[in-house]
Amino acid sequence: MTDCIKNRSQIILQLLGAVFISLVISSCSAVKVETYYENGVIATSSPIATEIGIQILKDGGNAFDAAVAIGFVLTVVHPEAGNIGGGGFALLRDGSSKEVTSLDFRETAPAAAFERMYLDSDSNVIADLSTIGALAVGVPGTVAGLYEMWQEKGSMEWSDLVAIAAKLADSGFVVDAYLETSLRENRAKLTQYQTTAELFFRNNQSVKENDLFEQKKLAKALYLIAAEGKDGFYEGEVADSIVATMAEHGGLITREDLKTYNPVWRDPIHFTFDSLDIYSMAPPSSGGLIIGQILKLLEPYDFSRYSPNSSEYINLFSEASKLAFADRSKHLGDPSFYNVPTDRLLDDEYLNSRRDLIDLKKAKNSEAILPGGMLQNESDQTTHFSIADKEGNLVAVTYTLNSPYGSKLAVKGFGFLLNNEMDDFSVKPGEQNLYGLIGGEANKIEPRKRMLSSMSPTIILKDNEPLLVLGTPGGSKIITVVAQAILSITRFNLNLQETLNQGRFHHQWLPDYLYLEKDRFSKDTQEKLQSYGYEIKEREAYSDIQIIYIDPSHLKTGASDPRRRGLTLGY
Ligand code: DON
Repeated sequence: MTDCIKNRSQIILQLLGAVFISLVISSCSAVKVETYYENGVIATSSPIATEIGIQILKDGGNAFDAAVAIGFVLTVVHPEAGNIGGGGFALLRDGSSKEVTSLDFRETAPAAAFERMYLDSDSNVIADLSTIGALAVGVPGTVAGLYEMWQEKGSMEWSDLVAIAAKLADSGFVVDAYLETSLRENRAKLTQYQTTAELFFRNNQSVKENDLFEQKKLAKALYLIAAEGKDGFYEGEVADSIVATMAEHGGLITREDLKTYNPVWRDPIHFTFDSLDIYSMAPPSSGGLIIGQILKLLEPYDFSRYSPNSSEYINLFSEASKLAFADRSKHLGDPSFYNVPTDRLLDDEYLNSRRDLIDLKKAKNSEAILPGGMLQNESDQTTHFSIADKEGNLVAVTYTLNSPYGSKLAVKGFGFLLNNEMDDFSVKPGEQNLYGLIGGEANKIEPRKRMLSSMSPTIILKDNEPLLVLGTPGGSKIITVVAQAILSITRFNLNLQETLNQGRFHHQWLPDYLYLEKDRFSKDTQEKLQSYGYEIKEREAYSDIQIIYIDPSHLKTGASDPRRRGLTLGY
């Protein structure tokens, strides 16, 4: 493993030259679960991104510098989800002020968007309109978000941090088996737009493992961003090209939409669970509140009576999850447009009344659950990275194009993909989105509104000191995956690797199915769950957790999900 990483590092070194920072990775070693590091640990979905991030820390950059560089590098090496044409969320803990904050760089609906924009005259949803092509695209937030993070908390030069990705795109990087497979599997969808086909299928050929993959057009955009900051994206040539691409394909985004895009600092959702302080993303992500509801509903239960694979635990968790997802459907949306009852949703009295609805030996029919007082198959192409540095700074970033390669539409002349995040709005009350989620008034389409998300970058403190940094892709499953990981560690006392190896299960109220990760749960467990009344559906392995654990003496370890090709490194 170590040799393989060194080899790859050397390749990057050769390709990038030693111009920007010294990329001499002398002692890189993959974090085994029991390997603890004094200084920094980084977990990302891409070995190249992790290596670059660690080098930034070694060169004296902080966690926020590393996050900025990784955010841009993933655009180059992980194009299915890494992006400048999408958006996301970051949870940040500042080691000196000890404050935990969050940055919302979610996409917004264009000013010309309207509630019925995906419906025909009979009010039927027009197939694919919110998922493929120009009309599916929300105003991108990633560049503004990373720029804001750097302005507030970065310590290195912006241009140096972004130039790393620009040079990687310019000189190329060596394709791995993962990218080859991903592009091959998505070929039909990615070749419907000329601008996208020419990025990934030059001369009709798909890139192959070990090919050197250059992206000159993307490099051009990244050099502009490196030189001009966020204006290099939201103004000038790149903005012109986004608008021209929209015009050519019937999209709505204007220069004004781009110019007026702003990321937002938000108070994270904060709740206590056992003796821990858990911070996760606030609306317009549902992640923090729904994870909070699930964990608070489960808090009084004695977990020594359960094992993590048992039908009893799966039932208990799923019943809590159904209640929380029912609330998600009604009460959550962009807080600038809809009054989200945040305090009430985490209120003890309210949750006590909801907990009364849980039956320990029975699946409640989801139709019998209403949102209190007040999901089809997709793959996991969002991406998350976690960073901890030696100053006590922590960063958890989840960002995305939404589904794999987003809208599949690349910007003319600049070689980057645009998101299809508009599908995260409730395009029609009661209509399922890509993740089978339904919604209504709170998440209806309105001009400049942010669509509801499930992304849940999460930071956990114990006695005011860092304990865990985590997150994952997975659409609506993000919420249950993060909540289950927290319970595996804190209630079942599993270590990080055991936690990631644990089988996953998911229930989101509607559709009324219990999804079990394939080949992880015994026949006996499945039969018991069926006898409780669950309709079970098996799913292929899903999600891609990147997690860091910090012990009381500030030693750090981390792990990347074994289901994918991520890498955790420390030093
Ligand atoms: O914001 C959301 O909740 C979705 N757009 C996330 C998409 C995702 O995780 C893709 N992977 N399945």
